[in-house]
Amino acid sequence: MARLDGKVVLISGGGADGPPGPGETVAIGNGRAAAILCAREGASVMVTDRSLDLAAQTADLIRAEGGAAEAMAADVLSEANCRDAVAATVRRFGKLQLLVNNVGIVVGGNLLTTTAEQFDLMMAVNVRGHFFMMKYAVPEMKAAGGGAIVNVSSAAAARGAGVTYGASKAALNILTRTVAVEHARDGIRANTVMPAYIDSTINRRLMGDRSSRATLQVPLKRQGTPWELAEAIVFLLCDQSSFITGVDLIVDGGALATYPM
Ligand SMILES: NC(=O)c1ccc[n+]([C@@H]2O[C@H](COP(=O)([O-])OP(=O)(O)OC[C@H]3O[C@@H](n4cnc5c(N)ncnc54)[C@H](O)[C@@H]3O)[C@@H](O)[C@H]2O)c1
Repeated sequence: MARLDGKVVLISGGGADGPPGPGETVAIGNGRAAAILCAREGASVMVTDRSLDLAAQTADLIRAEGGAAEAMAADVLSEANCRDAVAATVRRFGKLQLLVNNVGIVVGGNLLTTTAEQFDLMMAVNVRGHFFMMKYAVPEMKAAGGGAIVNVSSAAAARGAGVTYGASKAALNILTRTVAVEHARDGIRANTVMPAYIDSTINRRLMGDRSSRATLQVPLKRQGTPWELAEAIVFLLCDQSSFITGVDLIVDGGALATYPM
């Protein structure tokens, strides 16, 4: 019996927007790896992304392995898109118990260079989008008898790392904790993962070569893979973590634990 047998999961940002890594024929990002691993663990997966093409690539990969998946376009900037993504999941698969919010963007610079528009966009995508998805998913989880949410935050929530990025991820952490407390009575758990130094599409796109050199700061002396982050996500979705809610699970090779000397 697989860990997510009989479950239905909705994932936002389930495509992968960036170049393939070494040895990959298809680019694997954090969202795509999470979607594929959920399917391998027995879940039916609704893959959403602002790009229908990228979502469809993920759904095709899942179906090619014999899993159940559907793709649809949903931009988390739009409340209507988030509401429709939840409704479409229930229409297609009959219920919704699990939600993974993987969407996250990086724009802007430091305090003096970041514009008001960049600040607002970061908050709208990285925090408000997750708020919309949870707002519409939670009633369906209640109807299904319970559920679990994993929001993809960042180690940047705990360190100064971009004036808006870290602030948006810290806001996401407390938003998630609040949902965990408010909906524990409904049998719904909500947690975040806080990755850093994962060799995923967002890092390859934004950092290129610099992302592998940055691992000098990582005690484990390497980057993580999207599959390692996906394992943490599946753990928080499945019943093995049934007494864990309101936590932020750091997945960073020990980076946050160290004091750079
Ligand atoms: N790789 C790391 O080391 C690292 C570290 C910290 C946090 N993260 C987090 O990981 C997540 C993304 O990782 P990834 O590798 O999957 O990145 P990615 O850039 O490939 O993003 C995944 C998908 O999100 C979609 N997307 C972007 N904006 C959207 C929107 N407004 N609505 C719907 N979909 C949208 C993209 O089209 C893409 O297909 C983010 O939340 C990011 O903050 C990664």
